[in-house]
Order: sequence, then structure tokens, then C-alpha cells
Amino acid sequence: MAPSIPRYIDTVIIGNGPAALILSYILHGNIPYYAGGHPDPLLDAKLSRSRTLLDVTPDLYDHFSSSLRYSTQALPINTLLDTLLRPNADTELNPPSCVCWKYEPQKAVPHIVLGNTAAPGGQWQENAVSASWDIGTLSYAEMLSLPGLTFADHWERAHGQPMPDFVRPSRREVADYLSAYPTAVGISDSIFNSQQVSGISRTRDGFMIASHNMRCKHLVLGSGTFSMNIAPQPPLAELANLRTKSEPLLVVGSGFSAADAIISASETRQIIHIFKWAPDTRPSPLRGCHHQAYPEYAGIYKKMKLACKQSPTNTSKQRPMMRRKSKSSLGNRDWSTTYEGYPNGSIKSVNVQENTATIQIQCANGTISDRTIGELRYVVGRRGSLAYLQPSLLKEVVGEATSPVNPVVSTRTLRQKVEKNFQVAPGVFIIGSLAGDTLIRHAFGSCVHTAANLIREHSIVSERRHSIQNPATQKHARERSTRSLGKNVSPHGIPSSNCSDQNSLAESSDSDGGGGVVLEDHRDLHIDRRTLPRAKSRATSPTRQGSRRCSSW
Ligand SMILES: Cc1cc2nc3c(=O)[nH]c(=O)nc-3n(C[C@H](O)[C@H](O)[C@H](O)COP(=O)(O)OP(=O)(O)OC[C@H]3O[C@@H](n4cnc5c(N)ncnc54)[C@H](O)[C@@H]3O)c2cc1C
Ligand SMILES: *[C@@H]1O[C@H](CO)[C@@H](O)[C@H](O)[C@H]1NC(C)=O
Ligand SMILES: *[C@@H]1O[C@H](CO)[C@@H](O)[C@H](O)[C@H]1NC(C)=O
Ligand SMILES: *[C@@H]1O[C@H](CO)[C@@H](O)[C@H](O)[C@H]1NC(C)=O
Ligand SMILES: *[C@@H]1O[C@H](CO)[C@@H](O)[C@H](O)[C@H]1NC(C)=O
Repeated sequence: MAPSIPRYIDTVIIGNGPAALILSYILHGNIPYYAGGHPDPLLDAKLSRSRTLLDVTPDLYDHFSSSLRYSTQALPINTLLDTLLRPNADTELNPPSCVCWKYEPQKAVPHIVLGNTAAPGGQWQENAVSASWDIGTLSYAEMLSLPGLTFADHWERAHGQPMPDFVRPSRREVADYLSAYPTAVGISDSIFNSQQVSGISRTRDGFMIASHNMRCKHLVLGSGTFSMNIAPQPPLAELANLRTKSEPLLVVGSGFSAADAIISASETRQIIHIFKWAPDTRPSPLRGCHHQAYPEYAGIYKKMKLACKQSPTNTSKQRPMMRRKSKSSLGNRDWSTTYEGYPNGSIKSVNVQENTATIQIQCANGTISDRTIGELRYVVGRRGSLAYLQPSLLKEVVGEATSPVNPVVSTRTLRQKVEKNFQVAPGVFIIGSLAGDTLIRHAFGSCVHTAANLIREHSIVSERRHSIQNPATQKHARERSTRSLGKNVSPHGIPSSNCSDQNSLAESSDSDGGGGVVLEDHRDLHIDRRTLPRAKSRATSPTRQGSRRCSSW
């Protein structure tokens, strides 16, 4: 029988995306430790003194800012966990992980995850811009792995053979992986999908969740920043309902989602693409895409660039767009006849007929073009919403940083606050993209830090309860909560990360993703990883790489 949502629980996590899944894994009692072997001697020395990664203190990463080794884009604690999980990921293929996970059930914190998608995985289960499910992700597979079951493990289960190197899975494959994850690692008892949460308010000793008529002591916001598309303003808004596939598609946007919309269109469809073009001040995120690693994005970037060459001057009298042969990586589309790019174009007027519309486009050079279109994809970015918090709690969390009526949040809204503390209000924590670092590889810091706080508070409370009932157990309980008594079986009897071998989190690699959104500005992200040297001591298979024995200490 499926478990039902309790009336009261210690911790409720809002959102069922990758960050919520990582946190739930830890709160089930799977505790990360430093396994040793990080190539940064300073970091290695600091961590070798105290291997538990639940007690991460700023002195561990205060040398990062002066070191070229580390990205300064992500929050330091996210960078720390990333480099421990995937040391040298940007220069080495499948580097061994420096983190191992021990199952310590005495540290588990009762919690549930409430997310509105039908399956676990958050935004990976949605298709907000109706792009093709077969588009490859920006991240290579290793960068998408969650603890306890790597993407490669999942691949091997599904395909019956080891995953090859350099896989960029499709969105569908990532969604399938995340759906399978909770059961595979034994955390599905806590995950509740298709749950729209609303009306959360603070009570005297915790929080009330009106939509579910339940209470909790701690709240974790993992609701992400990508659940809503930024809607078109008038006059473009009038085009939102057009669905005439036989007429041209108007794509507005300059990022990945715009590129995805173009890639997803039928090859014979006419595409009119309006995009911002400011390479010096705000370059398109597509610019960094290496042509070998990301041929489709690099290809579309090239088309956009070419359109710019032709537009600002008025020397060329022929139709825009090149006469060059298209690369096969961009499919069989005849770009010269089907793609028109309008850098810095703007819509002057819109005239909707029944199923189509005529629009006037003002080009950067001032010329006006009339075009008929059958459909609009407006993909200039996505946002999240904190409308599920009642006004006074909302105010505690975001202050004046967003509208109380329509509390839209971006990756920047809470960033400054989390730079000080992931606990943004008493008892309220923030994880994942809401904390400003969007990539899955950068979700671990916020989750580990939040878990550490929840575990600490929970063990204090249960000790107190214990000692009231039976003072003799007090000492015992404290010992239990501070010592690591690793066991090998996860809550559901599935052998899990015992810090010895194959089940440790094994990841490496990198990338970026975004929906017309400029995610973190990772300059290092779009490199062609296929040129990377393999790890010196490449373990037998990708699933086994990245783990070391914890048992020796
Ligand atoms: C198009 C696109 C491509 C991307 N590609 C990559 C990539 O290749 N690699 C990578 O690492 N990252 C990528 N990302 C970044 C993405 O942020 C992360 O992969 C990851 O999904 C972040 O996880 P999260 O748990 O923080 O939030 P999310 O995955 O955003 O999940 C949060 C969930 O909470 C739900 N929610 C919100 N409010 C409520 C409510 N009131 N009640 C219930 N549920 C609620 C949301 O609808 C959402 O489903 C991409 C993002 C986008 C938009
Ligand atoms: C587009 O506008 C930006 C300023 O917003 C400018 O820097 C850029 O040169 C323009 N590009 C074209 C092709 O007109
Ligand atoms: C376009 O060309 C005409 C002459 O053909 C010239 O008068 C005009 O200044 C040019 N406009 C721009 C923006 O270069
Ligand atoms: C202005 O730019 C558009 C494309 O953006 C192009 O089709 C047109 O020929 C240009 N006009 C002139 C006068 O150069
Ligand atoms: C860890 O688990 C594996 C099986 O998953 C087992 O073979 C191994 O002995 C365990 N190691 C330790 C140190 O308990």
C-alpha cells in the first residue's frame, strides 16, 4: 500500500527535483564522508583531520577564491562538494570521487518531499516550452548523477551494458533516471508526487501547510526557478494561442530554449527568429557551445551570427541568410530557405486573423518587414514562484526582493541571502536552483549543509526526549549520534552506499543548462570533453569509478 501523507513530520521539502532527491537521500541516513585523495593538498590536509562532510566549515574553502583551480561562479560550498565528488572533472575523464557514503540510520530525519510533477525529477518531468524530449542535455551523464545510483548505473540496468563515455542523455532519459532513482536507492517512502503545495504559514512551533492540512517543524524550499515561462507582453501575447503548423513559426529568444524550439520544429517549417544580440555585453549562452561537443547549439549560434552580419548594414540587397550548405549535424533543414534571423528585432504590430497573424518586424537597421506566422514560441527565460508561502512568511524569506502579490523568483532573488546562510528564516532552508546555482552538480552543497542542520537539531531533540524517558540512555544516544556506525543496508534492504565500492557517488564532467535563461555564466562549461585525458587509474567500468574505501579509517 502506498504510504499516505502524515499530519505531522519533522521536515517538509517543497519540490521533487534533483535537489530534493539528494537531500532526501541524506536525510534517510546516508552520510557523506571524505574518502581521501583530493589533488589539492591543502584541502586534503584539512579534510583528513575531520572526514565528515556534514561539518563543513568555511575554512575548508576559504582558499578557493585565490586558486585558479576552482570556479568562482558557484557558491563556495557547492564548489567544494563538486570538486570532492568530481575532482579535476574538467581536465580528466571519470576521475575517482573523493566522497563516500555511509548508511547511518540513527542520523535519519523524518521528512517528506511534496512535488507537483507526476514523477520525481522536478523540471526534468515538465516540458514547459514543448521542446523535443530527444534533445540531448547540456550536461554529460556523469554530471547528472545523484548519490547512491549514478546515471551510468541506471544506464547499465536499462541497456544491459556499460554506458559509453561522453553520453549526453536526452531529456527523456534523464527524466527516466530521476523517476527510477527513489525506488532504486530506497527513499521512495518519503516522495509524494502530483502534490501542489499552497498556503504555508508559520505557527508558534513550526509551520502549517494548508493545502495538505499538515504541520512540520522545518521547511525546505526546493521549488526551483524554472517552473514558469516568462509570458509575452502585449502585443505578442495575442499570438499565444495560435497553433497553425502549416504557417511559419515565430521564435523569440536567444538561449537554449530558443535553440531547442528551432531544433524541435519540422525541418520544412519556416522559422522567423527574433533574438537579442549583444555579444559584448550579454552574449547568448549558445556562444560558449563547442562545435564538436554541442554541434546543434553551435550551429544555431552560427546562423544567428550570420544573420547579424547581414542585418545592420544595408549593402546586401539579396534576401538575408546564407547560401552555405548546412552541416548534417543540424539535420536536413535547408537553412537558406527556411530560417530568417532578426537580431535586435522588435515587433511593431500584430494583426491576428483566425488561425494566423500578420506581424510587423522592425529590424535593427530600421527596416520594417511584414510576415505571416502560424505559431509563437516565446522563450526568453523561466522563473519560479514562492506564491505557496503566505504573505508574512514570504516576507521573512525574501524581504522586499519580490512582489508580495506575484512572488516571482529568479536565480538571483535569494542569492545574496544564501551567500550568508541557506537557512533564510528560522527553520526555513533553501536548496537547489532556488539558491542560485542551477546545475545538478552544484546542488550538493546546499543539500549537505541543510541536511547537517536538520540532522543536528533532530538528534538534539531526540536525545532530549530519550533522556527524559530514560536518563541512562542519554550518554549512549550522544555517542550514537556522533560516532559513525556504518551499516551496509539501506532502509529498504537494498545494498547501498557503504563507502566501500561501487555504490559511492561517482561522477565527473560538466555543463550547463537553461531555458532561454542565462544560467550561471560558466565559461568553462561548454568545452569539448571528448578531448579530455582519461583518469590515470581508470576503474574497470564507469559505474565503479569514483569511489574509494572508507573502511581504512
Ligand atoms: C531547459 C533546461 C535545461 C537544463 N539542463 C540542465 C543540464 O543539462 N544539466 C544540469 O545540471 N542542469 C540543467 N538544468 C538546470 C536545472 O536547474 C537542474 O537540472 C535541476 O532541475 C535543479 O533542480 P531543483 O531540485 O533545484 O529544482 P527543479 O528541478 O526546478 O524542481 C523543482 C520542482 O518544484 C516544483 N514546485 C514549485 N512550486 C511548487 C509547489 N507549490 N508545490 C509543489 N511543487 C512545486 C516545480 O514545479 C518543479 O517541478 C536545466 C534547466 C532547464 C530549465
Ligand atoms: C543589438 O543591441 C545591442 C545593445 O542592446 C548592441 O550592442 C548590438 O550591437 C546590437 N546588435 C545588432 C546586430 O544590431
Ligand atoms: C542605407 O543605404 C542608403 C543608401 O542606399 C543610405 O542613404 C543610408 O544611410 C543607409 N543606411 C544605413 C543605416 O546604413
Ligand atoms: C535590414 O535588415 C534586414 C534583416 O534584419 C534585411 O533583410 C534588410 O535587407 C536590411 N535592410 C537594408 C536596407 O539593408
Ligand atoms: C559493501 O557492500 C558490498 C556489497 O554491496 C559488500 O560486498 C562489501 O563487503 C561491503 N563493504 C563493507 C566494508 O562492508
